[in-house]
Amino acid sequence: MAAFPLLLLLCSLLLAASTAADQCHDDDHAALVAIDTALGSPYHFASWTPDSACCDWYDVDCDAESGRVIGLRVFQDTNMSGAIPDAIANLTFLQTLTLHHLPAISGAIPDSLAALSNLSQLTISHTGVSGPVPSFLGMLTALTVLDLSYNSLTGAIPASLADLPNLSSINLRRNHLSGTIPSLLLSKSPDQAYLWLSSNNLSGAIPAEFAAVDFAHIDLSRNALTGDAACLLGAGKSSLQHVDVSRNALRFDLSGMEFPENATYIDLSHNGIRGGIPTQVANLTNLQQFNVSFNRLCGEVPAGGNMARFDRYSYLHNKCLCGAPLTACRQRPINYLH
Ligand SMILES: *[C@@H]1O[C@H](CO)[C@@H](O)[C@H](O)[C@H]1NC(C)=O
Ligand SMILES: *[C@@H]1O[C@H](CO)[C@@H](O)[C@H](O)[C@H]1NC(C)=O
Ligand SMILES: *[C@@H]1O[C@H](CO)[C@@H](O)[C@H](O)[C@H]1NC(C)=O
Ligand SMILES: *[C@@H]1O[C@H](CO)[C@@H](O)[C@H](O)[C@H]1NC(C)=O
Ligand SMILES: *[C@@H]1O[C@H](CO)[C@@H](O)[C@H](O)[C@H]1NC(C)=O
Ligand SMILES: *[C@@H]1O[C@H](CO)[C@@H](O)[C@H](O)[C@H]1NC(C)=O
Ligand SMILES: *[C@@H]1O[C@H](CO)[C@@H](O)[C@H](O)[C@H]1NC(C)=O
Ligand SMILES: *[C@@H]1O[C@H](CO)[C@@H](O)[C@H](O)[C@H]1NC(C)=O
Repeated sequence: MAAFPLLLLLCSLLLAASTAADQCHDDDHAALVAIDTALGSPYHFASWTPDSACCDWYDVDCDAESGRVIGLRVFQDTNMSGAIPDAIANLTFLQTLTLHHLPAISGAIPDSLAALSNLSQLTISHTGVSGPVPSFLGMLTALTVLDLSYNSLTGAIPASLADLPNLSSINLRRNHLSGTIPSLLLSKSPDQAYLWLSSNNLSGAIPAEFAAVDFAHIDLSRNALTGDAACLLGAGKSSLQHVDVSRNALRFDLSGMEFPENATYIDLSHNGIRGGIPTQVANLTNLQQFNVSFNRLCGEVPAGGNMARFDRYSYLHNKCLCGAPLTACRQRPINYLH
């Protein structure tokens, strides 16, 4: 007889306990409500209602122990519009912030985000955000990954990014950035470094200091960079797999240089590179993509090794390259030293 009410009591106790565990901290709850309000209560946040625990809300991630909100990941909504809400900065325990593919989100990256001292991964990509890459990012010392790609950011890359001790990945591709590349960018990277700066309007030289950075992937393509790429080539770059410096204004002599031994992807196309192709390229067993087209190279294309992988489209439009897969060299060796 007494078993039934007891069971009910037990059930409601269990329900209360699980709700408490999923309920985020009051301050985080208030911040989330303020974010929702600032964005005009978009349909995207339809699950953000008082009758469900805020750790269960769509896009919200809580730390299991503390119940604090540590992640906010808002993806893929062409309707959501307005500026990035300052209220995000009130999620003081935030470690991951992702705003991705929200093309109607606009305005500048707000200064308030400087307060997020625990932020480790910041992604604001494929949005309508404009204004500068803020220099306050150099104060977010916990940052490991910064992705501000596919926005409309202008101005220079702040040198303060070089101060970040744990930052190993920077993606600023497809913005309207100008000026030079900060010389110490990623010089403190504790791990293999990843850098995407392609499709901007960056000028000046590739920093010589890059020679000391342990890059795994570097893409500087489609800018207005000048000088040489010697700091990315050369022996001892055994981590470097992907090098793309295509479509710049680099002018240097490639003869006698060495490619990174483990490279899988090398694109030097559309520059003003002269000299010959180093025969060592034939020794790169992992190389899948090789493009030196639209330069001023001359002499015989190296043979042997894996060179049969590359057709004439790797060598188009140079000064006087010859040999398979291009037409045979007339005499060997061609005198291109004048
Ligand atoms: C975007 O707005 C349109 C028109 O108001 C609506 O049909 C659609 O469901 C909305 N999409 C999202 C993801 O909110
Ligand atoms: C952040 O929290 C503080 C203190 O709770 C509050 O006064 C402020 O209005 C909040 N900021 C925003 C933008 O919601
Ligand atoms: C950052 O997180 C740690 C725990 O991981 C916490 O002690 C600290 O208060 C947090 N910082 C801020 C500003 O909330
Ligand atoms: C950098 O990363 C290390 C290892 O993960 C961590 O112990 C350290 O606290 C981090 N530094 C900062 C400033 O967050
Ligand atoms: C790129 O920068 C140069 C100056 O360095 C400027 O003259 C040019 O207008 C810029 N181009 C674009 C597309 O912003
Ligand atoms: C690069 O290649 C060398 C041999 O040339 C090898 O010992 C090394 O493990 C490779 N490094 C990476 C990161 O693949
Ligand atoms: C290519 O590899 C072979 C065999 O390991 C070596 O003898 C030769 O010196 C290498 N060539 C270059 C240009 O590095
Ligand atoms: C190399 O780049 C040129 C110019 O962008 C392109 O036409 C060609 O197809 C590329 N070659 C390969 C092998 O990808």
